[in-house]
Amino acid sequence: MEIIEWIGIIVFCYFGYLLVKEVKIILSGNSNVQQKYGQGCWALVTGGTDGIGKGFCQEFARQGANVCIVARNKSKAENLIKELKEINNKPQYKIVIADFQDCLKDTFFEQIYSEVKDLDIGVLVNNVGVLTVGEFDKTLDIDQQNQIIINCIPVVFMTKYILPILKKRKRSGVISLSSLTGRFAYPYYQVYSATKAFNDNFTRSLQIEVENVDFLSLQPGFVQTAMVKNQTDILTVSTQQCVTAALSQLGLKDATAGHLIHRLQTFIFSLSEGKLMDIISPIIAKQLYKQKH
Ligand SMILES: NC(=O)c1ccc[n+]([C@@H]2O[C@H](COP(=O)([O-])OP(=O)(O)OC[C@H]3O[C@@H](n4cnc5c(N)ncnc54)[C@H](OP(=O)(O)O)[C@@H]3O)[C@@H](O)[C@H]2O)c1
Repeated sequence: MEIIEWIGIIVFCYFGYLLVKEVKIILSGNSNVQQKYGQGCWALVTGGTDGIGKGFCQEFARQGANVCIVARNKSKAENLIKELKEINNKPQYKIVIADFQDCLKDTFFEQIYSEVKDLDIGVLVNNVGVLTVGEFDKTLDIDQQNQIIINCIPVVFMTKYILPILKKRKRSGVISLSSLTGRFAYPYYQVYSATKAFNDNFTRSLQIEVENVDFLSLQPGFVQTAMVKNQTDILTVSTQQCVTAALSQLGLKDATAGHLIHRLQTFIFSLSEGKLMDIISPIIAKQLYKQKH
């Protein structure tokens, strides 16, 4: 056989393998956390009052799981609980007020822990995050500092404080919000994309290190939330689509872009070793920057 035919066979087998793996995940994927981690378990979501975090809270309520929201805005959190009760009034709901901008202060995480230590937490969603877009030298120091603090510190210390509760259980899960931007160099999102790469490496390392806890690094592309000006186009997915796709892959993978549209985007970008991303991302980032300013 010619070398080119061998290469063809190898490429064909590789794509066949990827296809079988995806089909297996689609067929075996179960997004119900109560079935995965036990009836009556709690789901704790940081930054749960809007966007993807709110999407997780709504999905957990639909599934009948108890929900604990760690949020900075009390009235927004109380309104969300009302909404969740309309979805399903059987589960218990709890609010812990914390502004992650203050998370370097002494006893910040101890305080949160003291309020949740008696809950049977089966799932932790490290969702809170902020975004600063722009030409690096023109961004404000305070915005960059907050972005690094809010995007990185809570993921580490919420996991650290909640882990003993999770480890006591037969099985449990942790989802940490990384991003597609965390996988590739991403101009205009330089610091944001670096924080998301941090979350990704941190989460995947723990997946290897810790037994009986399913860690998932969630790396979506654009999701229709306030963070990206609720952009809706062929590349974006709704919060519900993002969340259910993530939950169905929790326990099956250590990292995922979530929804099929985002998995395809990631796949295409990785085929070009990120080069396609180098062309597209400045265009998207400039659009977003203009909308924000
Ligand atoms: N949207 C996307 O396209 C996308 C893509 C990939 C990854 N992500 C990641 O997904 C996560 C959620 O993003 P999103 O799009 O849902 O954002 P979002 O719509 O802006 O919502 C952010 C949530 O975090 C809360 N929050 C922000 N700063 C906080 C602070 N200092 N203390 C406590 N809570 C705070 C907000 O609270 P308030 O309700 O009080 O404002 C809100 O509930 C982030 O980690 C983001 O990096 C988003």
